[in-house]
Amino acid sequence: MATTTDKLIIFDTTLRDGEQSPGVTLNTEEKLEIARQLSRLGVDVLEAGFPVASPGDFNAVQRIAREVGPLMEGRTGAGRVNQEMVICGLARSVKADIQTAFDAVKDAPRHRIHVFLATSDIHLEFKLKISRAQCIERITDTVSFAKSLCKDIEFSPEDAGRSDRAFLCEALAAAINAGATTLNIPDTVGYNTPSEYGDLIKHLKENTPGADGVIFSTHCHNDLGLATANTLAGVSNGARQVEVTINGIGERAGNTSLEEVVMNVHTHPLSYPVHHTINTRLFFSTSRMVEDLSGMAVQANKAIVGRNAFLHESGIHQDGVLKNKQTYEIIRPEDVGVTTGNLALGKHSGRHAFKTKLDDLGYAAPALSDAQFQAAFAKFKDLADSKKAGVTDGDMHALVADVRSSTLAVSGHAVTPPVTSTDPVPEDDNEKAASSSAASESAPRFTLKHLQVFTGLGITPTATVTLFDSVRGTEITDVALAQNGPIEATFSAIQRIIGIEIQLLNFNVAATSEGQDTLGKVAVRIARATEAEEKEGGDGSSSSLAPSGAVAKFSGLATNVDIITASANAYIAAVNRMAGHDESENRASHKSRNVDI
Ligand code: KIV
Ligand code: ZN
Repeated sequence: MATTTDKLIIFDTTLRDGEQSPGVTLNTEEKLEIARQLSRLGVDVLEAGFPVASPGDFNAVQRIAREVGPLMEGRTGAGRVNQEMVICGLARSVKADIQTAFDAVKDAPRHRIHVFLATSDIHLEFKLKISRAQCIERITDTVSFAKSLCKDIEFSPEDAGRSDRAFLCEALAAAINAGATTLNIPDTVGYNTPSEYGDLIKHLKENTPGADGVIFSTHCHNDLGLATANTLAGVSNGARQVEVTINGIGERAGNTSLEEVVMNVHTHPLSYPVHHTINTRLFFSTSRMVEDLSGMAVQANKAIVGRNAFLHESGIHQDGVLKNKQTYEIIRPEDVGVTTGNLALGKHSGRHAFKTKLDDLGYAAPALSDAQFQAAFAKFKDLADSKKAGVTDGDMHALVADVRSSTLAVSGHAVTPPVTSTDPVPEDDNEKAASSSAASESAPRFTLKHLQVFTGLGITPTATVTLFDSVRGTEITDVALAQNGPIEATFSAIQRIIGIEIQLLNFNVAATSEGQDTLGKVAVRIARATEAEEKEGGDGSSSSLAPSGAVAKFSGLATNVDIITASANAYIAAVNRMAGHDESENRASHKSRNVDI
């Protein structure tokens, strides 16, 4: 369909700003999984990370550039982007950061370096301790250096929302002169009002020398709940790129939510002078993936992707919707991947019906690998046998999450492809990584073989657990008692078997559908007990952009008709990720960087 409006560039920063959400730590495999989904969704530019932060971050960005950068699945056809996703790496205004960011992204067919430096007086005086003149000098110097490496350069004046406008124009002009092609205007602390932020974009476009030749971009934080409104005000005033995250995850109250901005533009084509090329039907499945892998739950009443977003509870509304959906629905649920018909599959449903249902729910191949599809089908068959009323859409989403969690736990062992000699990870480390990858990809470290729990009123809960340890090649059984219920007993028995003291940071059980035969979906988050204690009440010295000082946390997810079995499997999935992480940390630890911003 020919369109006369400008294209709105969707810049997704779920893996960079989103990953800075408190408590979120994604491993490389999880980042790759999300990056692949964002590519299928049609994201134009993916900020894959902050490569200088640590070797792990570098490795993740480099693998995304190499493995996801060339992908075209889901990106071709009418109304689609029809180009590869641009892979972007963030860098401070420091040459070494910029070189590292370039090294990480350069293998993507389309790549970008994103350089930032604060421009507000409060940041210049107290954080950077430099004058305005020194700030301009640094922008010129570092953006020119970035331009010498890469033609696509984005510059962000951090805390632009609180910067002096005249100085901001000067700083942006310096960035344009040095070669920046996109100017991103962050409301870093979520302080601006919509009219103020819209006016800021307009002012900068009208008063910055050279502004005509560059794209202006929004980057809004949600501290006052205005991120989406501010972003849209920016678009109305001339911004043609928006920086967003799935589910709006990010530092503090989060970033602007991708799905909210896109659906606003989608729903009001006459109000915004732009069009998008996002496959909105993948919103719900993408949201669930990010929720499951990040451990950041989506609030039920969140716009577009919340579980209640399309539920009509009151009788008057239900009656209206039955007569004509448009009485109370402004978005067709299926346009964002929400299925409301909820036709359940049963034990006689075959592979074909199962695959069709997965496609409808937004998991069309290659969203699941062949192995994941087979595992999901096997689980579905078991489930269909035990659930007489049929397997619902909610069960299907949970089943996919479960399979992803257990297979990612396996491949959570870092698999590092060979890199060039200029890369920060030495070649010998990569050889070791490559040679261990075959083994680490083959099986999870621990699998649950047997679980027996005694519990009840007036009984001390006891759990007997047998795990298969694929490294030792043997089954190990242990028993534990607990004062606080059968889940505690089960987790204690697992800890005794693996011989590591673990702190349970988060434990959540949810029903996947209605009715007594619903599945229990359990999500856990764990850390090594000693590490968590050491970091408790931390010294506050770690930078907001440097995750290297944080306690490593691992999440796991599983579903089962029996919530204790689901809990055990979720816990084991998290333990397997911890095992994979420990292995890759050992390889990279002597090269760990400590970035201080
Ligand atoms: O919020 C912010 O200022 C940022 C910059 C690094 C772009 O995330
Ligand atoms: Zn930000």
